[in-house]
Amino acid sequence: MSSDRSIPPSSPRSWRPRTLAVRGGLARTGFHETSEALFMTSGYVYDSAEEAEQSFDGTLDRMVYSRFKNPTVAMFEERLAAIEGAQACRATASGMAAVHAALMCQVKAGDRVVAAKALFGSCHWIINDLMTRFGIEAVFVDGTDLGQWAQALSKPTACVFIETPSNPTLEIIDIPAVAELTHKAGGRLVVDNVFATPIFQNPLALGADVVVYSATKHIDGQGRCLGGAILADQAFCADVLGPYLRHTGPALSPFNAWLLLKGLETLDLRMERHCANALKVARMLERHPKVARVLYPGLESHPQHALAARQMRGWGSIVAIDLKGGKAAAYGLLNGLETIDISNNLGDAKSLMTHPWTTTHQRLSPEDKLSMGIGEGMLRLSVGLEDGDDLVEDLEQALAD
Ligand SMILES: Cc1ncc(COP(=O)(O)O)c(C=O)c1O
Repeated sequence: MSSDRSIPPSSPRSWRPRTLAVRGGLARTGFHETSEALFMTSGYVYDSAEEAEQSFDGTLDRMVYSRFKNPTVAMFEERLAAIEGAQACRATASGMAAVHAALMCQVKAGDRVVAAKALFGSCHWIINDLMTRFGIEAVFVDGTDLGQWAQALSKPTACVFIETPSNPTLEIIDIPAVAELTHKAGGRLVVDNVFATPIFQNPLALGADVVVYSATKHIDGQGRCLGGAILADQAFCADVLGPYLRHTGPALSPFNAWLLLKGLETLDLRMERHCANALKVARMLERHPKVARVLYPGLESHPQHALAARQMRGWGSIVAIDLKGGKAAAYGLLNGLETIDISNNLGDAKSLMTHPWTTTHQRLSPEDKLSMGIGEGMLRLSVGLEDGDDLVEDLEQALAD
């Protein structure tokens, strides 16, 4: 944050991630408040015309307008950057605003973008439908096949986009290997780290250039607000992303930044419970006769389990299943749930289940869905913070109906 705070932030380099999650970026005002101050202000005032001029010509580093910078949003950015181990972070109004800005700020007509096929529906739309309108070539590969990456990245490429684990098929992509190929092709690797969270995976440390989050998910973690974030080095955030955000304005509300700051304080604790519950539920589902396949990176049966163990420190909260009875069986399970809610959101304290074919991925063609590995019998479960045994019992009774 800039020089206009009354008390400078205290983020000793020696703090460990759990301390950074609670104290990182904290900038107290002259009132010495315990909790982070919420600055609901769109603008700022100047003592003189000269000060206003110097604030705009860059001589003074201070708050000018909340579309550019806000003290509460800056605290959230600093805290998340500290946890992620990134030089810089810029917050956005939603996860999709983050994905959109992280990609569009760095490309121009004639560029080439390569992405994994298995993506959240809106991420796929940005690359396949939006970027191609502006003369950008979009190439999709099977993210788990390094041969396909090598082939696609044998030509100059501006940017590569992956989700790992992917939504909803939980594919794991080899971040160091794809980063190396991306850099050889002259591009930047952008990783959507929503499913792993900064607690379980740090893509920048694995060779990626940019990390994006939907903070709506686990970072808030309580289903209260939308938010997003982009993390990268200082040069990218200041020179490439900074002007794009400043002039297009997908700014995070200070109120949401305040909620997200409080969310970061408990993220580590919550991810431990999410993960323990998800593993318990996944093991039960794996034994169930009506379930054809369970996808969870923590299961030994997951096709990229060994890779997940190499690059992640935990398996996450999301479990996907394929039911033997197709769409009818999937709807039967959803409609039989008593504790778990039917919802397309994820990363909430409450367990939520959705049918990707007809909700999050509805707009994709059947061919695109099938090529991503999404079938009509697939359900995605975001495992919450309830007692894991209650979740197991709810799924057992819904499957028995
Ligand atoms: C992997 C992934 N990326 C991005 C988003 C978009 O986030 P938001 O809803 O905050 O815009 C989502 C939302 O589900 C997601 O699952």
